Amino acid sequence: MANLEGEVILITGAAQGLGAEIAQQASAAGASVVVTDVLDEQGRAFAETLVGPSIYCSLDVTDESQWESAIAKTLQQFTKITGMVNNAGVLLMAPIETTTVAQAATVLNVNVIGTFLGIRSTIGPMRDNGIGSIVNIASIDGVAAMNSVGLYGASKFAVRGLTKAAAIELGRDNIRVNAVCPAMGNPMMVQPFLDQIDVGRYLAGAPKPVLPEPTDASDAARMTMFLLSQDSRGCTGADFLVDGGWLAGHYCPGLPGF
Ligand SMILES: NC(=O)c1ccc[n+]([C@@H]2O[C@H](COP(=O)([O-])OP(=O)(O)OC[C@H]3O[C@@H](n4cnc5c(N)ncnc54)[C@H](O)[C@@H]3O)[C@@H](O)[C@H]2O)c1
Repeated sequence: MANLEGEVILITGAAQGLGAEIAQQASAAGASVVVTDVLDEQGRAFAETLVGPSIYCSLDVTDESQWESAIAKTLQQFTKITGMVNNAGVLLMAPIETTTVAQAATVLNVNVIGTFLGIRSTIGPMRDNGIGSIVNIASIDGVAAMNSVGLYGASKFAVRGLTKAAAIELGRDNIRVNAVCPAMGNPMMVQPFLDQIDVGRYLAGAPKPVLPEPTDASDAARMTMFLLSQDSRGCTGADFLVDGGWLAGHYCPGLPGF
């Protein structure tokens, strides 16, 4: 398990789901953790359950002034920031043809502008430390496109692009920037769209991971621990898929031996 003793890590969208899993693993690995979200009651209660030092900060990632106060509160409490996880995200499942500008703007605002502000807000404190690691949570939908997630996928492609540009700009400050591309996070993220999904047809036709065991949020969180820690000191500007081999290629039944 990665060692995060002495690290101070701010995680966005951490009241539940993958962000909460990352917060738990980081706390267990010895880090001081800043849990942030727009779900204040849930986030505050969750932060109190962590095993190590933690605080909760209300933070809408699209709001510049809230970023300023979250960073100030973190520095006041823990004096530094060594790790940042831009995890907050929203899903939209809709064909491009019927997607409204308002829907598109929401997805791009939270997933892209939120990640941009997270990176920008962290540069100063990390430069002051002389070291830092930023992890941006993208998705397999940001590596290979899929119907019904056009805008969401575009936002995650953008997250990967920002990750690489930031890695190039910040490498001289010893700040590493990487992207995690999970296949699975909080299954509840799909809940608002379930009534529009034909699960039978989806399961019959969709590509599948190649490993026998399904991946889950804990796998993406473990990858994030690796990227936050010095175990990954040689990695920056890279995408780390946690997809059980989903995007490795095509499994073709009926071929010799299969
Ligand atoms: N659920 C999946 O299958 C899946 C797959 C791949 C990648 N991801 C990515 O993983 C990340 C975490 O998602 P999750 O699966 O845990 O889903 P989730 O819905 O449980 O978590 C998303 C979190 O972001 C928060 N959030 C939303 N808008 C916000 C805003 N403006 N400011 C701050 N916080 C905000 C929500 O309150 C929530 O706590 C997201 O970036 C998501 O795109 C999820």
